[in-house]
Amino acid sequence: MKERAPRIEVVGNANAVAERAAAFVIARMRDRQPINLGLATGATMTPLYARLVAATHAGLISFRAATSFNLDEYVGVAPQSPGSFHAYMQEHLFRHVDMPAERARIPDGMAIEVAAEAARYEAQIAAAGGIDLLLLGIGANGHIGFNEPGSDFASRTREIWLDEATRIANAGNFPDRVSVPRRAITMGIATILEARSILLIATGPEKAAAVAAAIDGPIGPACPASALRQHGNVDVLCDEPAAAALATRPRASNRRRA
Ligand code: F6R
Repeated sequence: MKERAPRIEVVGNANAVAERAAAFVIARMRDRQPINLGLATGATMTPLYARLVAATHAGLISFRAATSFNLDEYVGVAPQSPGSFHAYMQEHLFRHVDMPAERARIPDGMAIEVAAEAARYEAQIAAAGGIDLLLLGIGANGHIGFNEPGSDFASRTREIWLDEATRIANAGNFPDRVSVPRRAITMGIATILEARSILLIATGPEKAAAVAAAIDGPIGPACPASALRQHGNVDVLCDEPAAAALATRPRASNRRRA
């Protein structure tokens, strides 16, 4: 398959990434209503969501006509549990903005039949008309959503066993290591690649190797984020520490420093 290079932008620090990403999302939301958003959780997204909340309160954007689909949720973690992605989304975005609750979708990690829940989620995305703008973070092991290394590029929403490295990275949201979930339900790589546009953001030195593998390494399941080079409408926004190992530096015209 022909490689289609993402647009890469490098800014000074995590703050500047959040600022720039917020401007990007705000512009899209002002351009296109109703909009179907794909959303990620995690530390990288938190400052971006804070800015989207502020923009909503300032009247710059509204989520009233938006629909959102989160990438993933832990299996066996109840929505009310503080470690769940449901709880994360409530805390950082949903409870502060005007999106109708029934249009804020997250896979049900408590579903008895995970495969049926995955199929239902795919059907919901399709019925909504697909995702217009999908926000992605990246794992230090190159995962997108919870598509861990080895994930098939043809994969769709499904149950996945989390890598030990992912469990360790996310342990802070749980009382102790043994309570960190082992399984999750995640949009598949093919599901992700069907989004009409994708914005991946990465901050901090611990993401440098994954960003370099995604952009400069071989395209293949060893680095799930490398699949984004088959998409054609992907923006990658990094801070300097996350971009430090990139061989492909953004063209000057494409590069803004914070
Ligand atoms: C979370 C998700 C993950 C995170 C990634 C980075 O919904 O899909 O792919 O985006 O693990 O997480 P942080 O930002 O916490 O480093």
